[in-house]
Amino acid sequence: MIKVTRTSMPPFEEFCEQIRPLWDSHILTNMGQLHERFEAELRQWLGCPGLTLFSHGHLALEAVLRILGLPAGSRIITTPFTFVSTVHAIARLGFEPVFCDVLPSDGTLDPSRLEELAGGRCSAVLPVHVYGNVCDVEAIEAFAVEYGLRVVYDAAHAFGVRYKGVPVVCRGDASILSFHATKVFSTIEGGAVCWSDPAMRQALDDEKNFGIRDENTCAAAGGNAKLNEFQAAMGLCNLRHIDAALQARAQLAGLYRSLLGDSVSYFHLRDGATSNHSYMPVLMRDRRQRDSVCDALVAAGVKARKYFWPLACDAAPYRSLPADVPVARNLSERVLTLPLYPELPEAEVERICSIVIGVL
Ligand SMILES: Cc1ncc(COP(=O)(O)O)c(C=O)c1O
Repeated sequence: MIKVTRTSMPPFEEFCEQIRPLWDSHILTNMGQLHERFEAELRQWLGCPGLTLFSHGHLALEAVLRILGLPAGSRIITTPFTFVSTVHAIARLGFEPVFCDVLPSDGTLDPSRLEELAGGRCSAVLPVHVYGNVCDVEAIEAFAVEYGLRVVYDAAHAFGVRYKGVPVVCRGDASILSFHATKVFSTIEGGAVCWSDPAMRQALDDEKNFGIRDENTCAAAGGNAKLNEFQAAMGLCNLRHIDAALQARAQLAGLYRSLLGDSVSYFHLRDGATSNHSYMPVLMRDRRQRDSVCDALVAAGVKARKYFWPLACDAAPYRSLPADVPVARNLSERVLTLPLYPELPEAEVERICSIVIGVL
């Protein structure tokens, strides 16, 4: 079965070499040497001087929302066209998710819909660079300044993406990354918060390690979200191969587009944005056509995914909330995400495209 993605792993011997010192030190977590090295190398590769590692992207997101000092129970505007983690982070902290529709061109939050949603006790906006597509960051941030809202980006899909020459994770009050095994860059499980305000560093460190600052000091009621040494070792190894992996993705995405041509439609990149080709989403005419293509692929041993369908606002915990999101609904019924990962053979891309075209 060809799946929608396959985790990139370094050569076995390289990983063994990387973890060998752990058998001497017996230090497997609590910000050990590999953690510190990985954090430094990642900051450099991403071009983001403010970065704090976490054990999971989701916990990174919850940590940021917790430390911003948002009023308890206030409303946070987000998109329904995302993985449910985004909305769960809001709800699990006792905030109220407010669903904003998205742009048809790229599936990111539509800033022109913010005004009608920003009333009441609204405290923040949580847009998602979905599929790595850069949001309309200028419009969102201008709106946030006008209304006194904080902006946290869910950049789980946007590893390495740049906008107008700057890493997109440097935008807003903070951005989170996910290094889950399904992502472009993986530490098996893992994530990070990218921040620009140095005051966030201590607050995030407290969040991820019980608020413990030294042997005698517990300064805050933090949780546990530390990235361990094995995750850091995987990160250090994968970082050596990430440039080649991104190049291979770009090449395969180009092949898909040249073979599929106008038979499907695509999301459009914002001017000035780069792509990490983290996913290969294509849009069909309607839900029936999308489902037929998906079924034909499954029958041929290809597990494409209907990312992001159903919408997050239709998940059981949120069904009773208002969600006037016709564009997101339309996209989620038409989208199909095709397999894309660096080791995917070109012959498989050709086979997948001929199946898709055969159904259309
Ligand atoms: C958009 C989005 N946000 C948040 C997450 C959560 O990240 P993690 O799985 O690393 O906790 C993911 C991925 O799983 C995601 O796709």
